[in-house]
Amino acid sequence: MTETRVTARAPSNIALIKYMGKADPASNLPAHGSLSMTLDRLCSIAEIRVKNDGKSAVAISAAAPDINAARFGGTLSCPELSDSGRQKLLRHLERVRAFSEERFEAHGLKALKRASIESRCANTFPAGAGIASSASSFAAVTLAAVRAFAAEPDAFERAYAGSESFRADVSALSRQGSGSSCRSFDGPWVLWQNESASAVPGGLPEMSDLVLVVDAGHKKVSSSEAHLRVVESPLWRGRIDRASARLEQLRKALGDGDQHRVAWHSWMEAWEMHSLFHTCADPFTYWKPGTMEVLEWIAPFVRTARTHGEPGRSPAFETPPIVTMDAGPNVHVIVPSSEAADWKVRLGDRFPELTVLEDRQGKGAELL
Ligand code: DP6
Repeated sequence: MTETRVTARAPSNIALIKYMGKADPASNLPAHGSLSMTLDRLCSIAEIRVKNDGKSAVAISAAAPDINAARFGGTLSCPELSDSGRQKLLRHLERVRAFSEERFEAHGLKALKRASIESRCANTFPAGAGIASSASSFAAVTLAAVRAFAAEPDAFERAYAGSESFRADVSALSRQGSGSSCRSFDGPWVLWQNESASAVPGGLPEMSDLVLVVDAGHKKVSSSEAHLRVVESPLWRGRIDRASARLEQLRKALGDGDQHRVAWHSWMEAWEMHSLFHTCADPFTYWKPGTMEVLEWIAPFVRTARTHGEPGRSPAFETPPIVTMDAGPNVHVIVPSSEAADWKVRLGDRFPELTVLEDRQGKGAELL
């Protein structure tokens, strides 16, 4: 019996137009499109150990992947899975096996038959850093597992590198495990509509994400639960049209490299998503007092995005930051990498008590 190991890395991504609300909860089809920036070093590493044992077992190990973590910023931390998180991941590994048996042939690939797999996954960001790991971990596990089920590794790697339709299929597979993970396969700017996601052109300079960690505690309402609750908000009426229109505006602004318009649409979108949380039938909030403090302080910088170019207004003194929030209390401040050091000092001076995580735009999941 032989044992082989496959390792993949996938970064987290931060949405500017959000995936919130599902058209089909069973397969994570979104109610409308979303658009995100792929990160780089804030990522998950997945290792799949494959045994040619004539069985078809799937298992999850709590151990970290056996790799030199220094390559990825130092330390690896293994997220502790809840029972439901474990079941979700086991179901996904079975889904990947089924995909290899049903879809490989269409891409000229052969699936490994009757092999058992064990999955290990760790993040390069500390547990409780307030960074969502479901996008990066599902993307990393999907890529490592789907490659592990390939009988001919070289053919798999050629297809993954060279075939857009194969990559779209892998992204769609990952989506079924956790929706936002389908945006972590490409980069830096990724559009997800319906089944799968792919890169779109962006005219901005290279961007960095500074994450102000207001609170690193475990969130009480999971994003999967939030997706179900938002449709009961009175603001859900018209939301699909508004989000779709904003998506088109933001996509155009991004293509034009217009940071003012990208910043303005992203700001409005973040407030709208959180307003859905605040107004649904069983309302909840992810915000902490510190979130409001950061938002109040940063709002005047973003406002220069709205007034930019209006007659009588002096030109903005600098390009506005792109500010957004996920389903959590932390605030993402996305700025050109050339301005990141200045912004870090400015944020550190104003909020010395907060940790600021820093990452850059990246290219998406890869086999290691
Ligand atoms: C607020 O992808 O975590 O981050 O599909 O149920 O796993 P599931 O949800 P998930 O939702 C992410 C929601 C979000 C917005 C976004 O990333 O677009």
